[in-house]
Amino acid sequence: MRAAHLVLTTAAMAAALAACGKSGSSDQASTASGAGSPPAAAAKGPSAEEKKALLAALPAPYNAGDLDNGQRKFALCRSCHTITQGGPDMTGPNLYGVFGRKAGSKPGYRYSDVVKNAGFDWDAEHLDKWLSSPRTFMPGTKMSFLGIPNEKDRVDLIAYLKVETGYQPPK
Ligand code: HEC
Repeated sequence: MRAAHLVLTTAAMAAALAACGKSGSSDQASTASGAGSPPAAAAKGPSAEEKKALLAALPAPYNAGDLDNGQRKFALCRSCHTITQGGPDMTGPNLYGVFGRKAGSKPGYRYSDVVKNAGFDWDAEHLDKWLSSPRTFMPGTKMSFLGIPNEKDRVDLIAYLKVETGYQPPK
């Protein structure tokens, strides 16, 4: 019994050491690959300056949105939406590049007819109405989300979405 216990302990220590070495080398790997072309699109996001410019491009009051609160509110959307460039569609479509995009037009995603035929491009004002109550704004939508009643929370979330989804990397 005692021997078995010792063996286990040794194995656990070996595993811990291995894990240690692993995280060290993967750090090195990511530093090294940072110099070349990034492996994932997500690796290269907007700089602080670019984020500021994206925010400033919004009309008032969205351009003064609180990004930290917006990020917290995005927790309401995360179960159904990704916002990173090239992120997968889940229950809802990936939202990267949603500002200026025609509603219901992301290739490869099956929208409800009402969203597909909405006939407008997403901007802060449309997003505000939508997020206030999707089913009031577009009856028949399959986005089963009640809405965000608090106006400031919507403003902050829209500011956050703009900064996170609006960056166009140089080609
Ligand atoms: C329960 C899942 C779910 C949640 C939660 C959810 N959505 Fe959606 N969302 C959807 C679905 C499904 C659609 C497609 C709607 C349709 O086709 O009728 C959609 C569509 C959208 C669209 C339109 C996209 C386009 O390409 O036209 C936007 C914008 C959007 N959601 C934003 C949000 C935001 C922001 C939140 C968080 C506050 C949120 N959604 C929460 C499921 C969800």
